[in-house]
Amino acid sequence: MTEESRFILDPATRDLHADNRRLREAGPLVPVTAEGVPAWAATRYATLLTVLTHPNLSREICHWAARHSSPPGTAIDRIVTDTSMLNAEGDEHRRLRTAVAGAFTPRRLEGLRPKIESLTGRLIDRLADLPPDQPVDLRKEFAYPLPREVISELIGIPAGHQDELHELSDAVAQVGGSLDDTPELRKALHELLGQIIDQRRDTPGEDLITDLFRLREQDGVRLSTDELFATIELLFIAGHVTTVNLITNAIGALLNEPGQLDLLRSGKCPFSAAVEETLRWDSPIAYFPMRYAVRDIEIDGVHLRAGEPILACFASAGRDPGHYGEAAHLFDLTSPPATHLSFGHGPHFCLGAPLARLEAEVALTALFGAFPEIAPAAPPEELCPLDTLLGNSTRTMPAVL
Ligand code: HEM
Repeated sequence: MTEESRFILDPATRDLHADNRRLREAGPLVPVTAEGVPAWAATRYATLLTVLTHPNLSREICHWAARHSSPPGTAIDRIVTDTSMLNAEGDEHRRLRTAVAGAFTPRRLEGLRPKIESLTGRLIDRLADLPPDQPVDLRKEFAYPLPREVISELIGIPAGHQDELHELSDAVAQVGGSLDDTPELRKALHELLGQIIDQRRDTPGEDLITDLFRLREQDGVRLSTDELFATIELLFIAGHVTTVNLITNAIGALLNEPGQLDLLRSGKCPFSAAVEETLRWDSPIAYFPMRYAVRDIEIDGVHLRAGEPILACFASAGRDPGHYGEAAHLFDLTSPPATHLSFGHGPHFCLGAPLARLEAEVALTALFGAFPEIAPAAPPEELCPLDTLLGNSTRTMPAVL
């Protein structure tokens, strides 16, 4: 394949699901240029599954460095600092992941449910107070604030810092959750998290930062200061924009498929089914790279050289007719519950998946329960996509309540 015949993936020009159809048809592993970086795109469900669990594919940047003289250097390549669990493997990965896994147990999450329900209730009340018949942007006014409040609560962001952090998280969301291209943003977030961590050290609470401090006292230094920062930063970024996309995409799907919405309202399908179907049909993450070949390997008949990066095409796998059949492109709550890969698979399986599912289910149940007349205020094809390869959603979700 010549450089000219590579598929170009560019957020400015992309038409995600049409691009993905072309990519799937071109093969299971397709040479692409993602924001200027040459990579292999894993386009089909079965290949993505292989990639996510392959022993000779790694997130560690050192494998890229073995082949290249300069860092990948694009937003899509390095989302969070290299010291976070997302970019570690083996024992190192297990140590970093175990440190925070306790915050995501079913018991801890059930404890968060009342908080999520009351935050959702407050947002619904605010929506109900808006002038009727005026379009409201449900991404901005509903899908966006809920996960932000929840993740702040879980991590332990003191009230006094929330406004500043919210401003920063707005800026982070605008760059699609990626910080590598925006060093000033990373610096500001780092400084603020530093102040928050100091404050939590002085006044412990029922939150993740306090837990991490306790862990340090009990078991010696389990996380270095850098690792502590990277962990909090990862949770803050991974726990926010992705869930905003999920809630936004689910609202969009249901607003435009009234028949499917009726199934939920009549109790024929649970709202959790709408969450799962949205994850499959319109994955909140479009492309997710950062796996590098540790050595020369072959996958599905394609030869990869050591150090070459692979892009995980989550949104493409979710609509793969080879796995889901010819109706894969349809949003259908009546088809039997299908598995999907939108939270990943294997050792890096999304730690926050149960939390994201809980938030989305509470949010959708409350929204569609509170507004029986809700309707879209613009056709889906008129909504602008996010300006990032990583996230998959629209910038707005206008509706009349
Ligand atoms: C990892 C998706 C919400 C925390 C991941 C991965 C995906 C993903 C695809 C990488 C899996 C891999 O490459 O193998 C999503 C989606 C979400 C969501 C679609 C929302 C709909 C959350 C939330 C949190 C979170 C709410 C935390 C509060 C994490 C963490 C990792 C991760 C810590 C890294 C796990 C590891 O490397 O071991 N997520 N995520 N995510 N996610 Fe999520």
